[in-house]
Amino acid sequence: NLTSQSGVTFFIFGATGDLAKRKLYPAIYSLFREGKLSERFAVIGLARRHRSIEEFQNDVYHSIQEFARYDISKDDNWKSFVNHFEYMSLNTNDKNGFDDLNQLTESLEQRFNIKGNRLFYLALAPQLFGQVANNLRSGGLLQSAGWHRVVIEKPFGYDLKSAEDLNTQIREVFEEEEIYRIDHYLGKEMIQNIEVIRFANAFFEPLWNNKYIANIQITLSETVGVGDRGGYYESSGALRDMAQNHMLQMVAMMAMEPPSRMESEDIRDEKVKVLRSIRSYKDAQEVKDSVVRAQYTEGTLNNKIVKAYRDEDSVSKTSNTETFFAAELYVDNFRWAGVPFYVRTGKRLPAKATEVVVEFKNIPENVYFAKTNSLEPNLLVFRVNPQEGIYIKFNAKKPGGESMIIPVAMDFCQSCEVGLNTPEAYERLVFDAIRGDSTYFTRWDEVASAWKYIDSISESWSSSDGSDLQHYEAGTWGPKGMKDLLEKKGFKWWPVH
Ligand code: BG6
Repeated sequence: NLTSQSGVTFFIFGATGDLAKRKLYPAIYSLFREGKLSERFAVIGLARRHRSIEEFQNDVYHSIQEFARYDISKDDNWKSFVNHFEYMSLNTNDKNGFDDLNQLTESLEQRFNIKGNRLFYLALAPQLFGQVANNLRSGGLLQSAGWHRVVIEKPFGYDLKSAEDLNTQIREVFEEEEIYRIDHYLGKEMIQNIEVIRFANAFFEPLWNNKYIANIQITLSETVGVGDRGGYYESSGALRDMAQNHMLQMVAMMAMEPPSRMESEDIRDEKVKVLRSIRSYKDAQEVKDSVVRAQYTEGTLNNKIVKAYRDEDSVSKTSNTETFFAAELYVDNFRWAGVPFYVRTGKRLPAKATEVVVEFKNIPENVYFAKTNSLEPNLLVFRVNPQEGIYIKFNAKKPGGESMIIPVAMDFCQSCEVGLNTPEAYERLVFDAIRGDSTYFTRWDEVASAWKYIDSISESWSSSDGSDLQHYEAGTWGPKGMKDLLEKKGFKWWPVH
C-alpha cells in the first residue's frame, strides 16, 4: 500500500455535508478495506457545527453503512478504522482556529506515525476557497515535512472571469501541481476506458476522424430533479452544472490526439488542445441555432407525479434556469473538421444514463446493396452508466433465403461480469490524489478553455428575453428542439440503452 511509507492526514472541510457523507467517507473506507491506506492515516472532519468526536464517528459509521460498497456492519475492525477520525468545529474565517487545527494535526501525526503529508479536501462553497487557503498558510498547516495538496470541488467559478479570480486566490498559496480540481466523471471506469479502447486497439483509431465518423453523441441523462439543491442550481443550471465540466471533459477524451506518453501532463496537454479547439458561438443567432435550453414542467416519472422545476424549493416561480441543455459543437482541428458533436444533459428525463455514441459514415452509398434495403450506420457505443460496457452495431446478412441485410450487435457488458464490484469514482480519485497522480483531475488551462466556450453561450442567454427557453414535461426525453438540432443535418439521436 502507498501510505505505509509515510501516511496521510485528510482534512475534510464540509464534513457534515452531503458530499462527505455520500462519497468521501465511503471512499476512504473502501481504500482502507482494500489495504490501500494501512494504519498510517487520520481524518479530521471540519465544519461550523458542533459535534463531539463520538457523534461524528457515529455519523461516519452511518454514512458508510448507507453508501459504501463494503458492508461495515460485518466488519469487526470498524472501530479501529473509525478511531482514525477526529472532528473540530471550525469557522473558516477564524484564524486562531487554524492554529488549533495545526496542533491537533501534529498530535494525530504523532499518534499515527504520519510524516506530515496533508490532503485538504474543500467540499465547500467556492467563495471560501481563498480564505481557507490563506488561513491554512497562516495557521502553519503548510509547514509540515511532507507534501500538501488541495482537492477542490466544482463549481470552479461562474464564468471565465470569476474562475480566473478564484484561481489567482488559490495560486497565492498553492502551486498548480498541488491543486487537484476534481471532476468525478473522470474517475468513472468507462470514461477512463475511452483512452484504452481508442489507443490499444487496431479496430478503432484508424477510423477515428472526419473521414469515417459522421457524428458523436454524448448523453448524460438523469431522472432526479434538483432536490434540495435549488439554491445552488438556480445560479448554475445544466450548463454550468454538467456541461462546463463533465460533458466537455468527455468531449476531450473522445477527441484528443494520442498523447506522447500515458502520463499526466502529456494526457492533459492533449485534452487542453481539444478544449481550445472547440468553436465558440460567434453571436446570439448562432447560439439559437446550435443550442437548446429547456426546463421541466410537472410530469409523471416512474409512476409518480413530480413537480415542475419552478415549484421546487428555493427556486424562483419565474425562473428561466435551464434543467436541460443540448448543443451541436465543433472541434476545429484537422481530425474533426466538419464532424458535429451532439451533447445533451437534463434532469427529470425518463432514465439515468451516460452514453457516448460514435456514428460512422455509411460506406460508399450502397454500391451492392442499394436494391435490397437501406443500411443502418455502424455504431460504437460507450456505456458509462448505469451499465458499464461497449456495444457495437454493424450490418450482416439476415439468415435465410431472402437477401436482406439487418443490423446486428455485439454487446460487451462489463458490469455484468460476476463478482465485479467497480470502485466508485471518488474512491479512485481520492486514491490518485494521495499518490500524487493528477491525470484525472482538471488542470487550470482546461478549466479556462472550457469556460471560454460556455461563456459564449451564457452571454447570449443573459442578453436574451428568455423566449428561447423551451419546456418539457418531467418524464419525457426533453424538448422538441433537441430533435431538430440533429434533423437539420439528417441525423437522429440514438436511443440510450
Ligand atoms: C454532479 C452534479 O456533478 O453530477 C449533479 O452537480 C449531478 O447535479 C451529478 O446529479 C451526476 O453524477 P452521477 O455520477 O450520478 O452521474
